[in-house]
Amino acid sequence: MNASAKELAALLPPGFTMGVATAAFQIEGALDEDGRGPSGWDVFAAKPGAIVDGHSPAVACDHYHRMPEDVALMKELGIDSYRFSLSWSRIQPGGSGPVNPAGLDFYDRLIDLLLANGISPMATLYHWETPLPLDEAGGWMNRDTAYRLGEFAAIAAAAYGDRVVRWVTVNEPATVTTNGYALGLHAPGEALMLKALPSVHHQLLGHGLAMQALRAAKVAGGIGITNVYSPMVPASANPLDKLSAGLMDVAQNRLFADPVLLGKYPDVIRAATFFSSFSPSSEDLELISQPLDFYGLNYYMPTRVASGAGDGTVPEGMAEAMGDDLSGTPGAPFHIAAFPDTEITAYGWPIKPEYMSVALAEMAERYPGLPPVYITEGGASFEDLQIRDVADRLIIPDERRVRYLADHIGTAVEATQPGGPAESIDLRGYYVWSLLDNFEWSGGYKQQFGLLHVDFDTQVRTPKASYYWLQELLASRNGAAPHAPGAGEPAEDADVERAAPGGPVNPA
Ligand code: BGC
Repeated sequence: MNASAKELAALLPPGFTMGVATAAFQIEGALDEDGRGPSGWDVFAAKPGAIVDGHSPAVACDHYHRMPEDVALMKELGIDSYRFSLSWSRIQPGGSGPVNPAGLDFYDRLIDLLLANGISPMATLYHWETPLPLDEAGGWMNRDTAYRLGEFAAIAAAAYGDRVVRWVTVNEPATVTTNGYALGLHAPGEALMLKALPSVHHQLLGHGLAMQALRAAKVAGGIGITNVYSPMVPASANPLDKLSAGLMDVAQNRLFADPVLLGKYPDVIRAATFFSSFSPSSEDLELISQPLDFYGLNYYMPTRVASGAGDGTVPEGMAEAMGDDLSGTPGAPFHIAAFPDTEITAYGWPIKPEYMSVALAEMAERYPGLPPVYITEGGASFEDLQIRDVADRLIIPDERRVRYLADHIGTAVEATQPGGPAESIDLRGYYVWSLLDNFEWSGGYKQQFGLLHVDFDTQVRTPKASYYWLQELLASRNGAAPHAPGAGEPAEDADVERAAPGGPVNPA
């Protein structure tokens, strides 16, 4: 692919939404301010060894205090839409019961400022920040957490339902289950392996209940869920490798997408303990598979899978994200293998834009009734080169990130055009992860995905080359003005307007 900003701009279909994404816990800081309650992540991050180099999320990008500056940088960038998450612990500190007016007010101001700048707000209800009292009561292992998320959705709908243009209920439940409950690498730090399966059903039920609450409140915006998707690639033609890749596909992809899009769990899952002793009620599955307005797909990389326990290590660089001894886990029948001769990110993730096309084609084949799709995250962490010019200004020529984004956005758009391998998919947009270098969960501040470099001592934001590249791309679309309210938004939002007759919703 490797297109220039202008070439890529010419490829983007009219109305294609370009955005940037963040999550509250990764950028806000101010964990003890204005009535926010502690979350499971506050506690997990404070555990020795949980976060690389003992980094603390206490300040992160200080976005809670610098929000207007960050919105100004988005405006300057020229994006159509901003995907952020609502901190549950800031809005409803106990996870149930009273709301915190100061918390509600923060997102109220953010949403108004976005709209005033012609940027459409996309709000994620759950991006991994579980209020501590809920985590202490079992978190997603406890069915009650799903009902609490439904209640939180109703609170958010009442506060912002007139202005949020797209709602994401839950972000990447697969990562929460795998890293949070099966391997113990994320909050709440449980290493339950296969016993983590109830956390799958409860998160999906939480999605369903949140959706039900948003619909009941007649929110003006469209509603969807975000799942991460990684095509699973057998390491060889060996049948055991193929079987292993198939099992990983079920565990990481189909387990989370099938119930939502097909209304049932993959058959093979019924063999696992939790599901063999539990058959989800048809009421639960109906809630989980309610029709969506859009489907959010996060694509970062494919996964190469080989049978057997491996040599006890994960591929170079991936240890921070996956633990350094995944394959040595007792009972692990397969392991993640490196792609030969493949460039990797700072995380060790293989850079394979062609698999973006595979991901979309597999989704199209598996889920014929797929609603419009947004790539709700994509991006790469690199150890960016930092140069000082003669005036001692910081310059960050992050060419590899530019290439990553150009190749992945271009591939997604081409794959979904007529004649492409995923032509049946109605691809509506792409959100870059991330606006800012931020607190990358257990990777701390070491893994940087931002278009904006953040100096975590001074909080100075410096646009990287990728920021200027995206700015040029956005400014050159169809020769249009870089941004005006409504620019670049899809037809779906016309429905949004109809859903709220006379409401103050911004059509963008
Ligand atoms: C998550 C983000 C995370 C990113 C990079 C996604 O799994 O939604 O919160 O920072 O990947 O690891």
